[in-house]
Amino acid sequence: METKIILITGGTTGIGFTCAKYLLNLKYQVIITGRVKKNLDSAVSELGNNSIGFLSDTSSLKDIDELVLKVKNLFGKIDGLFVNAGIFKASNFEETSEELFNETMNINFKGAFFTVQKFVPILKNPSSILLNTSIVVFKAFADTSVYTASKAALESISKVLNIELASKGIRVNIVSPGVTESPIQKKSGMSDEAINNLLEHFSATSPIGRIVQPTDIAPIVEFLLSDKSQVLRNEKIIIDGGTTL
Ligand SMILES: NC(=O)c1ccc[n+]([C@@H]2O[C@H](COP(=O)([O-])OP(=O)(O)OC[C@H]3O[C@@H](n4cnc5c(N)ncnc54)[C@H](OP(=O)(O)O)[C@@H]3O)[C@@H](O)[C@H]2O)c1
Repeated sequence: METKIILITGGTTGIGFTCAKYLLNLKYQVIITGRVKKNLDSAVSELGNNSIGFLSDTSSLKDIDELVLKVKNLFGKIDGLFVNAGIFKASNFEETSEELFNETMNINFKGAFFTVQKFVPILKNPSSILLNTSIVVFKAFADTSVYTASKAALESISKVLNIELASKGIRVNIVSPGVTESPIQKKSGMSDEAINNLLEHFSATSPIGRIVQPTDIAPIVEFLLSDKSQVLRNEKIIIDGGTTL
């Protein structure tokens, strides 16, 4: 069978990294990106052969252009794109600064938008694009207004892209994780106590009795990137252990 080539933005830690590991075990060729060199180096060394990492800030259109060129030079075209890079910083609506607004929208929405746009020419026919959004799009959580807006904006373009890119054999689907244990919580600005309370609350109230792990997400990501999901368009898989039921 031909080796499938998948690029994962933000593949150095958390969900992206675990998905890279999972895909590599299934003999995919995986390319990951990140913006912190130390994280990228340690991810690539742990992932080993068949993984390639590029430093690329998803909020920079210049970086995306350079990334596309490097991937094109190495592989020509790729089979799948997991648009996963993202940040979350907790902030009360009334205190949300313009700086945080811009940072969040530039990474989670603008960066994702132009990543998709600039990768289109090097996506095969057929190929799969997968967007990582969040349950915040349909369930309200305090202190997430900008994050919610960024993920809702990303989700909103999926339908349009499925229409515009259909003739190129490109399909777009969505994974919508619930609270998932990953380094994102520590980077959020929340105290350790607040993080522990959050994780305990979601473990206690979830039908699965525990917090979602990146390893729960990886097989679903693989399914949506693979030919097994060939006929799915704008499908959203909510991966939250049933917490939003
Ligand atoms: N964990 C959750 O509860 C949860 C729930 C729903 C959705 N999500 C979404 O899942 C995605 C992955 O999050 P995670 O939980 O796995 O968190 P994570 O461990 O913090 O991973 C985020 C990844 O994105 C990268 N990244 C951030 N900003 C970037 C930028 N400007 N350019 C390139 N790479 C960048 C990070 O790399 P660097 O270290 O180099 O910055 C890292 O590889 C995010 O889009 C997040 O919104 C997470």
